[in-house]
Amino acid sequence: MHRRLIAPGAFVASLLLAIPASAASYEPGAPGIGDPYYPAYGNGGYDVSHYDLRLKYQPGTDRLEGTATLLARTTESLSRLNLDFLLDVSEARVNGTKAAFSTSGEHELEITPRNPLPKGTEVTVVVRYAGVPSAEKAYGFTSWLRTPDGAVAAGEPEAAWWWFPSNDHPLDKATYDVSVLVPDGTQALSNGTLQSTSSRAGWTRYNWRSNKPQATYLATLAVGRFDITTGRTENGIPIVNAYSKDLGDDAGAARASVERTGEVAAWLTEYFGPYPYNALGGYVPNTPQVGYALETQTRPFYSPRQFASGSNVSVVVHELAHQWYGDLVSVAGWKDIWINEGFARYAQWLWSEHENEGTAQEIADHVYASRAADDPFWTVRPGDPGPENQFHIAVYDRGALALQALRNEIGDAAFFEILKGWPAKYAYGNATVGDFVAYAEQVSGRRLDALLDTWLYQPTKPGAAAAERVGV
Ligand code: ARG
Ligand code: ZN
Repeated sequence: MHRRLIAPGAFVASLLLAIPASAASYEPGAPGIGDPYYPAYGNGGYDVSHYDLRLKYQPGTDRLEGTATLLARTTESLSRLNLDFLLDVSEARVNGTKAAFSTSGEHELEITPRNPLPKGTEVTVVVRYAGVPSAEKAYGFTSWLRTPDGAVAAGEPEAAWWWFPSNDHPLDKATYDVSVLVPDGTQALSNGTLQSTSSRAGWTRYNWRSNKPQATYLATLAVGRFDITTGRTENGIPIVNAYSKDLGDDAGAARASVERTGEVAAWLTEYFGPYPYNALGGYVPNTPQVGYALETQTRPFYSPRQFASGSNVSVVVHELAHQWYGDLVSVAGWKDIWINEGFARYAQWLWSEHENEGTAQEIADHVYASRAADDPFWTVRPGDPGPENQFHIAVYDRGALALQALRNEIGDAAFFEILKGWPAKYAYGNATVGDFVAYAEQVSGRRLDALLDTWLYQPTKPGAAAAERVGV
């Protein structure tokens, strides 16, 4: 399921090459989906609707093996299609027939079916594979995180290609069934609901289902020894939380925070509208090497580091806010990261207000005042930060300042109508920063391009006049 970005390469090639019409109509799919920040991420020419992953993982050796079955639809007439993947492939099939495959670039798996694929047809791709994910790097790093008793796949934008072949870009969202076989005594977690488990001959299988469109980077896998808690929200949505058995002194603070997931999600619905999924939770594996959390769909990943100083409900607010801003409405391109991080940060400011720990306005004033005009913070443009600054603190804090400025400009009624209306308008799809500005203008009936240009796109600290006018 995707739209918007079009790689022009195949089209241009077909104009330039004088190939007979019948042959020219089948071209290799582009090796990237057309994201200017990450040209090789995702692929062209098809759209995945569902991933079925049937995996086996051995914590002792970090060996992952299995079969991925992708249900897709072609959007071009293809002689070949690419997937993004790092592990070793032993067999590929397209529509039941063995297909040739090879690798190229940092993470391209090229699959050439025996018969070319006409545009607009359903395609089933089966990939059998195995490997040691921690041994694989792309661009010099891995976001496959090993733990003493297992492993975790959690990273942004890169996470998927260490554990399943995919069209790895948020533009192509799909549903997932993730079935994982692990040694008895070890659990396997993923997104969504646990459909069933079964045990045989020393191995236990966990069958997870995520039944709403999900971006590839929001798919997660965690294997390890966990303490698991279950419950339900007031609306009956099942909650599954998991904590590594080895969190040590951080265990209490981790639980005191993540166990408030149901409460926080209910509080967020007042601002963002109904919770969009049928499952909820969070997990805290034993990954002290990692400083970030991640809004993996329905079940965010938290690092124990977030709880090293004590409880931290604010990070739970941040990751759950992403369930609407990032997961339900996903970036159309990675330059649109502000529509994730600016809003998740602003939700934390609203939570602070709710907790009587300082209003959003007070926090905005503090951020503005504490960053001098020559602080490199102000050179980062949240509306288009560049791939090197995609997760710069300015995307978060200056991004939230932009929202406080918007709120002061249009008033609380319009502002909160926008916060709630946006997730509904683009539910289960993708959007750009430009889409948000247009929507905010439509709801408020005001021209906002100058205001948002000042806060999102200028590489300088907005002047005292701009700050004064919006009360920052
Ligand atoms: N979206 C994540 C958050 O909750 C940030 C992930 C940053 N990723 C990374 N590899 N540092 O803010
Ligand atoms: Zn975030």
